[in-house]
Amino acid sequence: MAAEPGIPSVALEAVLKKSSSLPKNKELVKGYDFNDGVDYHALLQSYKTSGFQATNFGLAVEEINKMIACRREPLVNEDVLETDPFIQRKHHCTIFLGYTSNMASAGVRDTIRFLVQHKMVDCVVTSAGGVEEDLIKCLAPTIIGKFSLDGAQLRDNGLNRIGNLIVPNENYCKFEDWVMPILDELLEEQQSKNIIWTPSKVITRLGEKIANPDSICYWAAKNEIPIFSPALTDGSLGDMIYFHSYRNPGLVIDIVQDIRRVNSIAVKAENSGMIIIGGGVIKHHICNSNLMRNGADYAVYINTANEFDGSDSGARPDEAVSWGKIKKTATPVKVYADATLVFPLIVAETFAFSFHSSANHVKD
Ligand SMILES: NC(=O)c1ccc[n+]([C@@H]2O[C@H](COP(=O)([O-])OP(=O)(O)OC[C@H]3O[C@@H](n4cnc5c(N)ncnc54)[C@H](O)[C@@H]3O)[C@@H](O)[C@H]2O)c1
Repeated sequence: MAAEPGIPSVALEAVLKKSSSLPKNKELVKGYDFNDGVDYHALLQSYKTSGFQATNFGLAVEEINKMIACRREPLVNEDVLETDPFIQRKHHCTIFLGYTSNMASAGVRDTIRFLVQHKMVDCVVTSAGGVEEDLIKCLAPTIIGKFSLDGAQLRDNGLNRIGNLIVPNENYCKFEDWVMPILDELLEEQQSKNIIWTPSKVITRLGEKIANPDSICYWAAKNEIPIFSPALTDGSLGDMIYFHSYRNPGLVIDIVQDIRRVNSIAVKAENSGMIIIGGGVIKHHICNSNLMRNGADYAVYINTANEFDGSDSGARPDEAVSWGKIKKTATPVKVYADATLVFPLIVAETFAFSFHSSANHVKD
């Protein structure tokens, strides 16, 4: 840098400091050019070079497409000795899908149902609301409202708010009418056939009973995909189980068999991928089961939580690497975003893209 008369050299050197040479394979920042028309696939593909969470979106798409490619490879060893079809190893990459309850309340439920309907995932983990909201929607609809609706007024009118969604209390009354005879049946089978119920087995039964193709639980039961929910009582289902314990006491739901089941799926996996929408128990349950195999090979987190408070919800994938829950060699991705915005778009660029592409048809 030539010294200019009058410009202090300290300022020149500070402002115009030379860069070291950049790597040859560097990617350049570039967004979508709408002069090319409104092409949503091209638009979403352009995200990877746009920066910030758009780049993380692009990386998440790549990571999930790696899981799908690995899953399509033939199994090295058939799991012939496994007698439980729900936990039998079926693919070269076992995909775990976790989602928080509010995803079932929102329209993301329909995206998740598509994945389960077409056997694109092998193991599902959700919280209680993720089960009951899916079932209740088969009995009565959830309605679009506003975040700003007044809580006291809603209460007076028997309306419950989930963000900007409204679930009339009537829906839970219908759920009670529907679920109580099923709880009676579970208790009767426990007593007459010594069946030990677990949350995942209860959910399978509920899925069979709802018999509605809009439902995640219906397709999971039909396709022998287990849905785990270790805190199954923390929701309306728990309210019903509580009432049932007075009306017809004795039902036992065992969580020990389920930890065996979910951990066995991870231990058996030839490769493992985790797609986790939201945080809390569903995130940790999937990560912890993957610890049993010394870490997942692929991982995508989508959530809004941050790590400054030390919460597991906010923990980045690298924290899971430190625990052996994600492999050191993996290329995990976290997308910081509201999943209602990004998860359907991620599925559009991954599972749904493969499904609808004639060259690569994966329909079952
Ligand atoms: N509809 C409901 O939300 C509902 C219904 C009945 C019961 N419950 C119960 O409430 C308890 C807590 O719910 P939970 O464990 O499912 O999760 P949660 O609602 O407590 O969310 C956990 C974390 O997930 C992340 N997250 C949530 N929504 C997100 C979004 N839209 N986009 C990105 N990240 C998001 C956030 O970081 C959040 O802190 C559970 O026991 C559940 O059964 C919830």
